[in-house]
Amino acid sequence: MAKASLMALLLKAICISCLISFALAAEKLNVVGKVYCDTCRVEFETKLSEPISGATVKLECKKEEDHVVTFSREAVTNATGGYSIPVEGDHDEEICSVRVDKSPRADCNERMEAWEKSQVELTGQDGLAEPTRTANNLGFKKKEALPGCAQVLKDMGFPKGKVEAVP
Ligand SMILES: *[C@@H]1O[C@H](CO)[C@@H](O)[C@H](O)[C@H]1NC(C)=O
Repeated sequence: MAKASLMALLLKAICISCLISFALAAEKLNVVGKVYCDTCRVEFETKLSEPISGATVKLECKKEEDHVVTFSREAVTNATGGYSIPVEGDHDEEICSVRVDKSPRADCNERMEAWEKSQVELTGQDGLAEPTRTANNLGFKKKEALPGCAQVLKDMGFPKGKVEAVP
């Protein structure tokens, strides 16, 4: 009798823990981030960087061992340059990253390695309760730097002429 109820208790405990992990696994992760125009052509953010609305970004997960794509989804940035990509499934032991794909601005569509892609961790098993994963800011480089850039860079502490990319 005592043995039987102990067994029942044990089964109950196992079931509760499996329900909890099931609930966690079912929790949808969301990748959010922003796309900017590097208006000073310096490959870092300045206060003159502008959010790009209507830019296409692509999230892709690949298996670590053979690089087979397991998940892929595109999103378009909103008025403030933000995007949000819902993720299906758990992507443990995969490499997931968001990259900029297309810019709607003809004057700001140059790719740059520094802002082209951001890796994101997409597993619910890493102990992070928060379902939102924030990617590093992404962006494109403007064809011509804005006239205000020299001053802004000076204010940021760069001596004149020290930032290579500024004309
Ligand atoms: C743009 O998208 C981001 C990420 O989803 C969101 O936080 C922000 O509120 C959105 N802004 C507008 C103006 O819709």
